[in-house]
Amino acid sequence: MPDRVTLVEVGPRDGLQNEKGQISAADKCTLIDRLGAAGLPVIEAGAFVSPKWVPQMADTAQVLAGLTRRPGVRYPVLVPNDKGYAAARAANVDEIAVFAAASETFSQKNINCSIAESLERFAPVMAAAKADGVKVRGYVSCVAGCPYEGAIAHKAVIHVTRALLEMGCFEVSLGDTIGVGTPARIRALLKDIKAELPVAKLAAHFHDTYGQAVANLTVALDEGIRTFDSSVGGLGGCPYAPGAGGNVATEDVVYMLNGAGVDTGVNLDEVVKIAWWVSHQLGREPVSKVAKAKKAVCSL
Ligand code: HMG
Ligand code: MG
Repeated sequence: MPDRVTLVEVGPRDGLQNEKGQISAADKCTLIDRLGAAGLPVIEAGAFVSPKWVPQMADTAQVLAGLTRRPGVRYPVLVPNDKGYAAARAANVDEIAVFAAASETFSQKNINCSIAESLERFAPVMAAAKADGVKVRGYVSCVAGCPYEGAIAHKAVIHVTRALLEMGCFEVSLGDTIGVGTPARIRALLKDIKAELPVAKLAAHFHDTYGQAVANLTVALDEGIRTFDSSVGGLGGCPYAPGAGGNVATEDVVYMLNGAGVDTGVNLDEVVKIAWWVSHQLGREPVSKVAKAKKAVCSL
């Protein structure tokens, strides 16, 4: 087990983009500020995507203007094309994430172009980012299965991951977008990827549709991955992935890692309080068992 891992909090983006209940830009800022205070080192703050495609992210510029940037905390945003990049720069963003898929059909449904076209669109974004000193993370969706195509060949995942790394992404997050992965299948996938690409440049992004996310994360940790995406309260899903459950809950991940003696720098009780608070804003309870089991800390 490593001494330490990095958590990338994606609740304000991946979480809220798929919640039916809208929360205000001011509440999003409160959410992000509280996550930073709880020790999350990277907080995905929003997405500069088409507001017609994902209306929940339409206020990203307002959110970036309203949040308090804590020294040492990174606030990346999703960018699909030149237009998104220009908006991100206008909002003083210094880290972005581009997102591709290992499934052709998902690529069409999510960003309205083929995988090859998406990589072409990223090329000028990467060039501009390099010139501006902006860090770029990459995502690959559907690494463990696609809602439209079913099983996805490992070589398709490796192809897109390699392309993003060669373009200059400092890290690529492997997304089990619809949460269909199981520990045995994730292990087999990671072994194949590691045979061709450096594990130090990979992160893992699990959704918890079938309750496998923490188990999958444990396997990824065992295979050498040291950066994991998670979402407070288990918020989320994906608007273009029907049936996708929320991201693995940050509090579930921190609880599991605390138990293994792996440091995240994150205060579990604070995250539980935030999980209850944001779920309340959305008119429901958090889905995570850890948040429910530790509910008492919320009334401290
Ligand atoms: P398009 O319709 O093909 O694009 O969408 P277009 O270039 O033809 O433009 C159409 C309209 O969108 C125009 O406006 C553009 O100006 C506008 P109109 O003239 O009709 O008024 N537009 C934009 N507006 C704001 N920001 C932009 C932008 N670009 C164009 N950046 C596009 C193509 C990529 C824009 C669209 O498909 C889109 O926004 N898709 C985003 C979908 C999305 O955000 N999905 C969720 C994130 S991915 C995910 O969740 C997976 C992940 O979590 C990992 C995992 O779990 O696997 C990352
Ligand atoms: Mg996701």
